[in-house]
Amino acid sequence: MRVVLIIVAIVTALYAAKVVEVSKEYQTSQKCKSCHLQIVKDWEQSWHSKSHYLKDEYFRATLEYVARKTRKSLNSVKIECATCHNPRISVTSTDLDYEVKVLMKLDKDSAVNKATQNSAISEGINCVVCHNIDKIHDDRDSSHRGMNRVSWTKSGTMVGPFSDAKSPYHKIEHRDFMDEKSDQLCFVCHANDKSVEGLVFTDMQSEYQKSDKECIDCHMGPKVSGVAATLRSVDGETKKRDVRSHTFSGAHVQKMWSEALNLNMWQKDGEIIIVLNNPQPHNIPSGFGSRELIVDVTYKKGDKDIDSKSISLTRYYKRKRAKATIPHLAVEASEDMSIPALGKKVLKVKNIADATSINVKVYYRLVNDEVRSILNLKEAIWSTKSLITSENLRLK
Ligand code: HEC
Ligand code: HEC
Ligand code: HEC
Ligand code: HEC
Ligand code: HEC
Repeated sequence: MRVVLIIVAIVTALYAAKVVEVSKEYQTSQKCKSCHLQIVKDWEQSWHSKSHYLKDEYFRATLEYVARKTRKSLNSVKIECATCHNPRISVTSTDLDYEVKVLMKLDKDSAVNKATQNSAISEGINCVVCHNIDKIHDDRDSSHRGMNRVSWTKSGTMVGPFSDAKSPYHKIEHRDFMDEKSDQLCFVCHANDKSVEGLVFTDMQSEYQKSDKECIDCHMGPKVSGVAATLRSVDGETKKRDVRSHTFSGAHVQKMWSEALNLNMWQKDGEIIIVLNNPQPHNIPSGFGSRELIVDVTYKKGDKDIDSKSISLTRYYKRKRAKATIPHLAVEASEDMSIPALGKKVLKVKNIADATSINVKVYYRLVNDEVRSILNLKEAIWSTKSLITSENLRLK
């Protein structure tokens, strides 16, 4: 028993995230602007730059709700979530002593408080997250994510896709996870996550169907001719490179949803069969727990709408005693209604007398009604319906 305990202690120590301090001249994206302006501008639009308490209402509301319901200090929850959301934070865990300090209001000058207030981490997932990863430890079990799955380069060494790049401002090293094996980089965080009760509410890596495209082909767009840095060499030239955009466009960008799914319909006996096909290599919705697809069906007689129905494809979460909750606190979840990667989902609705045609519209929503109301989310983005596709069918 003793031996086992010691081994467990050693293993935990081995896998615990090691903090490498980032010196001031590399900490924020501001320091990169003079030579990588376009990349910084692109990244500022991305939701990687909003992965912080102060910048994402949904993230903040979830953090506060988790802290309240688990009776932990807000700082302790911030540090747990920082594993993936702010992995360069300087404190990586808290203990019971800290909770006592908070209760006694003695934590003001603590290292934990300083770490969570640090302005460098308010940039969320910034340049020195992805470009300072030295190694990705895929030998660690699947629950080690974010800062617990990587080790960091020395401050000032940037890893990148080009093996012949040189910069006067920082050292450069090539890594294949920046290039031909880039999915490995995304799976550091976009893989799985579980609730405080151990329920896995997102499992992107397991559902993923490897195709000829990598995550970056779709979420950073194709390679285009441009420059990696605007710095001119001694002969006054900038170096031409094939580069991608750093916008990491995804579910929060309405236009990205257009045609993300395909819709087919036909009439059979008294029913209308609606088939949703997902050509993407991961489920839709995916990635996070309370996303929603909405299928709005309108029955028409000539030009007139005579009836309608709305079908919601989402997941609901329950705490103990069957109380509705958010994914992070769930003990159980309802059936997964998402459309599988490279797969389909078949829905059936009844035909109604008098209808001469029906119209079906498929939408996406970032947060379903239940979670929006639990967290009291105010900003319009969480309830907005983004149109994916729409189809008409003449009825016989
Ligand atoms: C004084 C100019 C300058 C500044 C400031 C600068 N860089 Fe660079 N960086 C360069 C040059 C030059 C290159 C090489 C470009 C090339 O070879 O096409 C480069 C290349 C890179 C690469 C690509 C490396 C590769 O192997 O593909 C990364 C990543 C990078 N920089 C990150 C950063 C980050 C992050 C910052 C801010 C903390 C930063 N840089 C600040 C000049 C700069
Ligand atoms: C989520 C991870 C991630 C973040 C955050 C990130 N990058 Fe990158 N970066 C990549 C990947 C992946 C590539 C390789 C893209 C490709 O195939 O061209 C890349 C490429 C680059 C390159 C080489 C040019 C190119 O497009 O290939 C530079 C320079 C660079 N990044 C700088 C930055 C700077 C500066 C920031 C912060 C504003 C930043 N990156 C933030 C993942 C990231
Ligand atoms: C260090 C962890 C981490 C890494 C590495 C990472 N991401 Fe992210 N990513 C996140 C988090 C956390 C968010 C959500 C931020 C928020 O919404 O506040 C996110 C958001 C996104 C989004 C926006 C999703 C949406 O719902 O709009 C896309 C797209 C994305 N990431 C793609 C990528 C790709 C592609 C890679 C690999 C090149 C990558 N990410 C690497 C943690 C990471
Ligand atoms: C063939 C293109 C393609 C590839 C490859 C791809 N995606 Fe997507 N992804 C999409 C489309 C299309 C959507 C839906 C519209 C949107 O959100 O961009 C999406 C949505 C997402 C979302 C939001 C999901 C939701 O339901 O809220 C995340 C997060 C994401 N992708 C991450 C990734 C990661 C990480 C990888 C690699 C493991 C990846 N994607 C590979 C096309 C792709
Ligand atoms: C294992 C890594 C990981 C951990 C740990 C983690 N997250 Fe996330 N989280 C992600 C990724 C990746 C995304 C982006 C997925 C997407 O957009 O579909 C995300 C997205 C979110 C979103 C959706 C944000 C938006 O703008 O739509 C919320 C809310 C969130 N996380 C809350 C939390 C909270 C609170 C914690 C701590 C209790 C936490 N997360 C811990 C990886 C993680």
